Amino acid sequence: MRHATGISDLGVEGLEKVLAQAIQWKQGPHPKHLVDKILGMVFFNPSLRTRASFEACMARGGGSSIVLEVGNGVWKLEDRAGAVMDGDRAEHIREAAPVLSRYVDVLAVRTFAGNTDDAEDHKDPVMNGFRNFATVPTLSMESAREHPCQGLADLMTARETFGTTKGLPVTLSWAPHIKPLPKAVPNSFLLTAAAAGCEVRVAHPKGFELQPEVQAQAEALAKEAGGSVAFTQDLDEAVKDSRVVYAKAWGPATGGPLGPEAVKAFPAWMTSPEIMAKAAADAIFMHCLPVRRNVEVADGVLDGPWSRVVDEAENRFHVQRALLQWLLEA
Ligand code: CP
Repeated sequence: MRHATGISDLGVEGLEKVLAQAIQWKQGPHPKHLVDKILGMVFFNPSLRTRASFEACMARGGGSSIVLEVGNGVWKLEDRAGAVMDGDRAEHIREAAPVLSRYVDVLAVRTFAGNTDDAEDHKDPVMNGFRNFATVPTLSMESAREHPCQGLADLMTARETFGTTKGLPVTLSWAPHIKPLPKAVPNSFLLTAAAAGCEVRVAHPKGFELQPEVQAQAEALAKEAGGSVAFTQDLDEAVKDSRVVYAKAWGPATGGPLGPEAVKAFPAWMTSPEIMAKAAADAIFMHCLPVRRNVEVADGVLDGPWSRVVDEAENRFHVQRALLQWLLEA
């Protein structure tokens, strides 16, 4: 049985297969590949694109979906092994995951990072709880560690624009925010771009390092795919000649020198037309959305010729139906 809770589930081969299928299906009529299939979606956190695009995948493919919002008409769920459940969490994942598996063909979960302990987030306890106790394929709709569907949509967008991602110089740029955000999206962009063979540059102020294990995983994927990964605190140097500038806010490395308020301390890192002008002449701008305008990214970039943020959101639909196919064909 396949799962898709992180890029390591696909590997370089699976990634290439899903991207190729997504690009092919985007050109034609909607395939009816999900007839009689049900996707269960469990949301611990809000969403616009993820929920709408997965519901669209199931409806267009001839299947259907069940959406559960934990704590909103659905029992709050416990994930800790051995927990004494005398609080407000009335049901354990140990029961919830196998029960839902009796109703659906794939179980998708959104569960954000606690964002106070990178090492704990790296263990991805809720997602792995579902993965361990479900009896159908599990799929991440963003967990504490990764957002694989976003990474796939990002790389599909780059590949559509430039024809190939092999050796493509791409910059993942840290961006300011009003609060420290999780690291799942930057992790997934880094890992997916590395697995797609890009020349990946990650730029951030000192103190915003991504988890060392994620960096090491990206380096291994890049080696396998013929790309490269580099980390820098020099944004100008990172964006120079870059074909893709990908902005994303994330919180400081926990246990590092910076506190959570530091996310407001680097306004010069907001992606601006001046920064885009330092990239390649044909550079595109990407962001996973939602985006805080004029905090993370200037209006001039989002409304300018570089922006592919809406195409990128559309591509969530295309990669997700290819990913569902990959999960179900096993
Ligand atoms: N990019 C993304 O996952 O969007 P939502 O949070 O709206 O689902």
